[in-house]
Amino acid sequence: MSDFAVFKTTLASAAPKLFDLLDRFDLAKILVIGDLTLDEFLTGQVERLSREAPVLILRHEETQQIPGGGGNAIYNFAKLGAKVTAIGLTGKDPQGEALRQIFTEAGIDSDNIVIDPSRPTVTKTRIAGHARQSVTQQIVRVDRKSDRLPTPEIQAQLAEAIHNRLKTFDAVVFSDYGEGVLTPPVIKAGLSHSRVIVDAQKDLQRYQQATLFTPNLPEAEKAVGYGINESNLTEAGRDLLNLTQAEAILITRGEDGMTLCDRNLTLQHIPAFNRTDVFDVTGAGDTVVAALTLALCVGSSFWEAAVLGNLAASLVVRQFGTATTSVEEMKIALTNLLEEV
Ligand SMILES: Nc1ncnc2c1ncn2[C@@H]1O[C@H](COP(=O)(O)OP(=O)(O)OP(=O)(O)O)[C@@H](O)[C@H]1O
Ligand SMILES: [Mg+2]
Repeated sequence: MSDFAVFKTTLASAAPKLFDLLDRFDLAKILVIGDLTLDEFLTGQVERLSREAPVLILRHEETQQIPGGGGNAIYNFAKLGAKVTAIGLTGKDPQGEALRQIFTEAGIDSDNIVIDPSRPTVTKTRIAGHARQSVTQQIVRVDRKSDRLPTPEIQAQLAEAIHNRLKTFDAVVFSDYGEGVLTPPVIKAGLSHSRVIVDAQKDLQRYQQATLFTPNLPEAEKAVGYGINESNLTEAGRDLLNLTQAEAILITRGEDGMTLCDRNLTLQHIPAFNRTDVFDVTGAGDTVVAALTLALCVGSSFWEAAVLGNLAASLVVRQFGTATTSVEEMKIALTNLLEEV
């Protein structure tokens, strides 16, 4: 039997529990502390060359705005039916307003997002153009961000907002995209919860004692300081556990799926569930975090949580742009996966 066929038999015996977990995702209450980003897509049709400079002039057609970075993790939680509270920073600008409005429309509690007038809302604006009846291509991207950390006052304000409500949540999630929200007082406040999931690009040791970390392969390699392959995964798992003092580490490995490593250094590989209809893998890691956290909150093992994270990711990689999925879609996908031969 192929590895995938072997995995399928394991999946089949776990299926009743997995469906049951999915049915209870909407019971979970989650606090996400993260770097909020707005992803903007401006599209236009190419009209002519400018006389001011040798540049294209586009006739604006549409502007799309979607949450990115930690905002995408938050949005994924909401679309999976969870009650989610967002903590983070925006500037006092239209981009911050837009992000807040998208969150509110999705039922996300945004009352604790702090507005810092001294910085812009982190925004990545892609400008894309197309000739008449032709494909759209990105021409340039404009990023708005600040390299300064929030002031001690703002850090304290964020920490207090976390501290005041911590006990009302089933889990705390850190979504660290390196934009400055996750300073020591903020991290300390969140870490006093007993179930903490960390998705951080670097400096994983800052989150020591969290429950579970979900680095992707490059992040895991950066953390341990060497290249990771099939032959040294156990060593990498051990080093990551030593570094983070976590209960488990889930390394997401792109098209190779994911590997879970627990305190006994037992490795469990989960193959990618969809390797053919892959169009855009951006944001898949945020989807993994959302689905796996909800599973843990409603009583799953780490392995069951990882499997549901993997299932959710297999759906969002089919869609362009950072994307989300739903419990309904996940149930259909699980049913189909079990029926496949
Ligand atoms: N090329 C691919 N083919 C199939 N599945 C994929 C592919 N890339 C990602 N996935 C799925 O998405 C999961 C997470 O992907 P990845 O390891 O790339 O996360 P990531 O780099 O943290 O993503 P991001 O930070 O952009 O959200 C994988 O474990 C896998 O299930
Ligand atoms: Mg990631």
